[in-house]
Amino acid sequence: MFTVKTNVRNYQTFGEFAEAFALSEDDLVITQSFLYEPFMKSEKLPCTFVMQDRYGGGEPSDEMINSILEEVKGKPFKRVVGVGGGTVIDISKLFVLKGLEDATDAFERRIPIVKEKRLVLVPTTCGTGSEVTNISIAEIKSRHTKMGLADDAILADDAVLIPELLRGLPFKFYAYSAIDALIHAMESYLSPKANVYTQLFSEKAIGMILNVFKGISQYGEEYRFDHFEAMLTASNFAGIAFGNAGVGAVHALSYPLGGGYHVPHGEANYQFLTAVFNVYYDKDPQGKICDLNEILAENLEIRKEELSGNPKIVYDILDRLLGKLAPKNPLRHYGMRPEETGEFTVSVLKTQQRLLANNYVPLSEEDIRKIYQSLY
Ligand SMILES: [Fe+2]
Repeated sequence: MFTVKTNVRNYQTFGEFAEAFALSEDDLVITQSFLYEPFMKSEKLPCTFVMQDRYGGGEPSDEMINSILEEVKGKPFKRVVGVGGGTVIDISKLFVLKGLEDATDAFERRIPIVKEKRLVLVPTTCGTGSEVTNISIAEIKSRHTKMGLADDAILADDAVLIPELLRGLPFKFYAYSAIDALIHAMESYLSPKANVYTQLFSEKAIGMILNVFKGISQYGEEYRFDHFEAMLTASNFAGIAFGNAGVGAVHALSYPLGGGYHVPHGEANYQFLTAVFNVYYDKDPQGKICDLNEILAENLEIRKEELSGNPKIVYDILDRLLGKLAPKNPLRHYGMRPEETGEFTVSVLKTQQRLLANNYVPLSEEDIRKIYQSLY
C-alpha cells in the first residue's frame, strides 16, 4: 500500500548538511551558480561541482545531460548530490546509473537501468517532490518529445530539506512550485491508487500549503520567509503521496502546454487545476471527491452550510486564493492556437495514458477537449 525508501533529513543550513554528510572529493555536486555562490562557495569543499545553468536554461533536456556527462567523464566520484530545483534534481538522478554515456539510452531503456552510486537530493524549490519519487523527466530534443524514466534505481538514498536554500527563490517561482505541490496532494488524493496511507500525506500537505497561502494573501509575499520549512515539508509530503498514488489529468493536460510552449511545469499545471476538478465533480459527485472538498472547505474556511448548498464553491474560493499568488491566464496568452484545443486532446490521449490512469473518473475525448476550450 505504501513505500518510502528514501531517508528524509532536515538541516537548517547547507554548512550543517555538508558536515553531517562529510562531503568530499568523492562527491559530484550538481547545482546552480545562484545557489553555489551564497550557500556553498564559502564552505571550500573539495567536491566536483557542476553548475547546471552553464549547460542551458529551462527544463532538463538530453543535450544538457549529455554535455554534463561529457564534462565529468572519467571522474571517479562515488556519490551524486543534486542541490537545486526540479531541473537539477531530475538531471542528478541519471548520474547514478552504471555506464551511462547518452541520456537517451536511459530514457529509451537501451541500457540496463542499474544504480552504481549513492544519490542525495536537496530540493531548493517547494514543489516537485521529486526528491522522493523515482521519476526523471527530460525533453529529448533529438526525438522532439518529453520522456520520463520511472525506475527505483533512480530513487534517492537521502532527501535533505534545508529551508535556508529557498531564500533566493523569487516569489513567482516559489508560488508556482508551491501550487504544483498542492496539485500533487489533490490529484494523488483522488487517484484510484490512493489509500488511507497516501491520503494521510495528501491531506496534511493540503492543510499546510493552504495555511501558508492564506498567510501570504493576508500579510504579503514576505510571509513566506518564516514558513519555508513548513512549505518544504508539505511539498515533501505531497511527493510521498504522489510517489505512491500518482497524479492524473491536471498533469496530463498540461503536458502539451509545457512541451509546445515551454510554460514552466507548475505554471502549466495551475491553468488546469480547478477546470479538471469541476469536471470530476460533475461526472461523479458522490465519491471521495466529497471528502476532498470537505478538506478544502475546512482549510479555506468555508462554512458547512455553504458547502452543502454549493459544493463546487471550493474551487471558486481556491481559484480566488491562488489568484492572489499568481495570475491564471487564458491558454491563448501562451501562444496556443484555437485548433490546438483538438490537437492537444489527441496528443494527451495518445501519450499520457500513464497519468490518465490515475484520474478520479475516466475523462472522454470530449471532456478533455471541452476543458481546453473552456480555458482557451
Ligand atoms: Fe508536478
